[in-house]
Amino acid sequence: MNLDAMKKAAAEAALDYIEVGDVIGVGTGSTANFFIDALARSGPAIDGAVASSNATADRLSSHGIRVLDLNDCGELPVYVDGADEFDPGLNLVKGGGGALTREKIVAGASRRFVCIVDAGKAVDVLGSFPLPVEVIPMARALVSRRLAAEGGEPALRDGFVTDNGNVILDVRGLHIADPKALETRLNQVPGVVTNGLFAVRGADVVLVGAGSGVQRLER
Ligand code: 5RP
Repeated sequence: MNLDAMKKAAAEAALDYIEVGDVIGVGTGSTANFFIDALARSGPAIDGAVASSNATADRLSSHGIRVLDLNDCGELPVYVDGADEFDPGLNLVKGGGGALTREKIVAGASRRFVCIVDAGKAVDVLGSFPLPVEVIPMARALVSRRLAAEGGEPALRDGFVTDNGNVILDVRGLHIADPKALETRLNQVPGVVTNGLFAVRGADVVLVGAGSGVQRLER
């Protein structure tokens, strides 16, 4: 099974968590795109979706799915999104696509976070994938120094501006033994909008597409 087939299998399995008439949260990235396409093709008729990025809003709209403002919705029953890494505790690194802040907001507004990944995203300890940190542009140097003090090597994501008008620092070299503590600590640095650790609010379910089928991991 190739990578796309694994992502697609995980994305299709997420349809089991959606009910007719739901307003759901939808994430960003290639696996989330497979989910949007599957939802439009053969999923339950939902009432609408809250998008975690402009790109996702465009894709939802292109399928005729109503895109709603989170401020007009209450708690969402489910949020479906991919990840760059997950560990056995269902903690995640996200933000490879640069949408981490809106992803964290929509995940935080959702009762259940269903994460869809290919098997290559599994790690024992988070940190092999460079940790994305969204930063207010004027704080780039300050935040970089603080990240270096944490043992990381931050690099500006070249030519990239987030949907919120900010920059991303991708941080290599972090061995993330305590994801909740690091997530909380980094978010205290002035100028950090958020970081790509999803541990304080990790996934509730991870659907892992693999050659052997889809594995369901639950908290
Ligand atoms: C975007 C994300 C994505 O979920 C993450 O990068 C995984 O992407 P893909 O499904 O393309 O592998 O966090 O900000």
